[in-house]
Amino acid sequence: MPTIDSELGLIKQPAPAAPEIVVTGLTKSFNSRPVLRGLNVTINRAEIVAIVGHSGCGKTVFLDHMTGLMQPDHGSIRVADHSRPDRAMIELVGLDHDHLDQIRLHWAIVFQHNALFTGTVYENCALWLREHTTLLERKIKQRVREALSAVRLDPDEVMTKPREALSGGMAKRVAIARAIAPDPGVIFYDEPTTGLDPVVSGHIHELIFNTHNRPRAVGAVGAVGDATARTTVMITHDRELLRRISPRVIMLDGGIIVFDGPYERFLYADVPAARLYLEHMPVLHDRPPD
Ligand SMILES: Nc1ncnc2c1ncn2[C@@H]1O[C@H](COP(=O)(O)OP(=O)(O)OP(=O)(O)O)[C@@H](O)[C@H]1O
Ligand SMILES: [Mg+2]
Repeated sequence: MPTIDSELGLIKQPAPAAPEIVVTGLTKSFNSRPVLRGLNVTINRAEIVAIVGHSGCGKTVFLDHMTGLMQPDHGSIRVADHSRPDRAMIELVGLDHDHLDQIRLHWAIVFQHNALFTGTVYENCALWLREHTTLLERKIKQRVREALSAVRLDPDEVMTKPREALSGGMAKRVAIARAIAPDPGVIFYDEPTTGLDPVVSGHIHELIFNTHNRPRAVGAVGAVGDATARTTVMITHDRELLRRISPRVIMLDGGIIVFDGPYERFLYADVPAARLYLEHMPVLHDRPPD
């Protein structure tokens, strides 16, 4: 919607929507059992999108297609190539590894099961910065410390801990710190607050929101020109996270998209699967009212 700039008295038009991810006719089956049955979605740059649906409905499989980790049976997944000044859309299906790596330079993924590799917390968070930037180790350490503090972990306490010494909640927070440390243009979170206590969850809600709204640093790896806007795609069962962020909600059920619209409309959507889901959706992180 156009807005009136009171100082200048001008009507400002919002920037035209630029596509970040365009999914067309995506189908996927495992052992002849269809999981995704023809998904069509466009996610625009700077959007914040939540994918919801009951356990096993195909949310992670859908995300894995958007990140090029899975290949579809049919369909197309085109994504913006931030390494090009025109950010042209490029087809992920069948893309060679080198090109996929180049596309992924501006993405970060928080995996459902964290996917930390063997090594210390510091090694997990620093690896990407060591491999893809020219930052001195001193600067990398500073970035990692900032990212760990942002997820409310004490850097002095956790940086030298091996992966095996982390609790589930700590590992989840390290995975989030590792994702935000490179200042990515697109962040995918698969259940970022599952297993966290209510207080830490509240911090993560704010972190997701603030990270989304904080412009990318000029000169971030993979960023060209004015590409400072960030796009956030998350899978969540956390009702409080949805309430606080009010994202665009995409609901999967039976392998199709049964709802796609603002959270405010999702709450009252006249869609049986959405009604059932909302009635049974656990308030995982019951918090006192703000
Ligand atoms: N690599 C695979 N091989 C065979 N079946 C798979 C594979 N990956 C996923 N599936 C199946 O696809 C379906 C959807 O799985 P998915 O992990 O996407 O569910 P989900 O919606 O993310 O659930 P949850 O909320 O529990 O994480 C499940 O039935 C799962 O068993
Ligand atoms: Mg999942």
